[in-house]
Amino acid sequence: MAEQKKTPATVNTIQRVSWAYFVLLVVVAPVAIAVLVYRVDEFDPAPLPDHGLSRVTVEVPKHNNRVLDAAERVGDGLLHGPEDLAYDAESGIIYTGCSDGWIKQVTVKDSAEQTRVENWVYVGGRPLGLAFGPDKQLIVAESYKGLLKVNREGLVELLTDEADGVKFRLTDGVDVANDGMIYFTDASYKYDLDHHMLDILEGRPYGRLMSFDPSTNQTQILVRHLYFANGVALSPDQSFLVFCETPRRRCSKYHIKGERKGSVDNFIDNLPGFPDNIRYDGDGHFWIALPSAKTLSWDVVLRYPYVRKTMAILSKYMHLPNIQRDGGVLAVNLEGKAVALYSDPSLSMVSGGLKIGKYLYYGNLENAHFTRINLTRHAASASS
Ligand SMILES: *[C@@H]1O[C@H](CO)[C@@H](O)[C@H](O)[C@H]1NC(C)=O
Ligand SMILES: *[C@@H]1O[C@H](CO)[C@@H](O)[C@H](O)[C@H]1NC(C)=O
Repeated sequence: MAEQKKTPATVNTIQRVSWAYFVLLVVVAPVAIAVLVYRVDEFDPAPLPDHGLSRVTVEVPKHNNRVLDAAERVGDGLLHGPEDLAYDAESGIIYTGCSDGWIKQVTVKDSAEQTRVENWVYVGGRPLGLAFGPDKQLIVAESYKGLLKVNREGLVELLTDEADGVKFRLTDGVDVANDGMIYFTDASYKYDLDHHMLDILEGRPYGRLMSFDPSTNQTQILVRHLYFANGVALSPDQSFLVFCETPRRRCSKYHIKGERKGSVDNFIDNLPGFPDNIRYDGDGHFWIALPSAKTLSWDVVLRYPYVRKTMAILSKYMHLPNIQRDGGVLAVNLEGKAVALYSDPSLSMVSGGLKIGKYLYYGNLENAHFTRINLTRHAASASS
């Protein structure tokens, strides 16, 4: 007290004023600006339907959770984000769509070093889903342009890019029935691939499942209001197809034939991760790629719209941290029962899973290779 008396009152006031300025500048102003930015920003996320917030995860009887220890890299440095894989058994060639706009041909051998990678056709944009038609034409879901057909000679043709007057923004998954009918998804008619995270953060169903009939050139909407509609795969008897909705951790069954024709049932939900592409292996199992496991971060993000809004605003100014982890591929039987999961804590962005012979191949959105494991040697075992 005695000390303070000695201090001239003016100095004391100046100190207080500068301290107040300091608090204002460092604490109050940024918070006020943040609140203002938050309130003014028009991004308006919606709560997800209750089911999407389920904390439950389906029981998976067998698990190999260290697949990277066993994995071989295929085409290292030559493949840029090989998203989906399609196999031509006759030639033994795997086709994959890369982020440089090329469809590449990969001739795989038992020794990964003998693998040959060749540029096949440049389609541009960002090819995602790939599937062969009965006539061996390759159907490509090119995220920006729409549904493409590449014939044997490598000629590219646009099949369709809109339905009911609404353009596709993010053509994503595709499969072709034995009768030639093409089934595919547009993940979002609002956000393109560069902004796909905003679709997930907004939490509204802008996705559609559609068919394209090459004999009539008709595009038909089969199911609307889907949450980031992703992979598509036909059942072996062609009576139904399975399609995946990424943020809802589920895949549904669309009946193509029979008395339930045109209706949708649950196929598998409460997946251990967020589904991307799905492929049938010709041997009783669908393989569902999971770019990321369900994690605490994802639970929080999906549960709270204000967290998603904050993330959307931050994404304008910075690169959001990658919260994908523990990705893998899940094998599911024809009844929609989970059979085995092949994952790794360090795997992320796994976009496709394709079983060819004894190998499981992993497509990936970002790596410069795809990965494979020998399923005989590294089989999943009963989870303890
Ligand atoms: C479908 O479109 C292709 C390419 O534009 C055209 O060659 C073909 O005649 C069309 N088929 C029908 C049935 O309209
Ligand atoms: C896969 O692993 C099994 C068991 O170790 C082995 O016998 C087989 O040769 C391997 N397959 C290939 C194609 O390398």
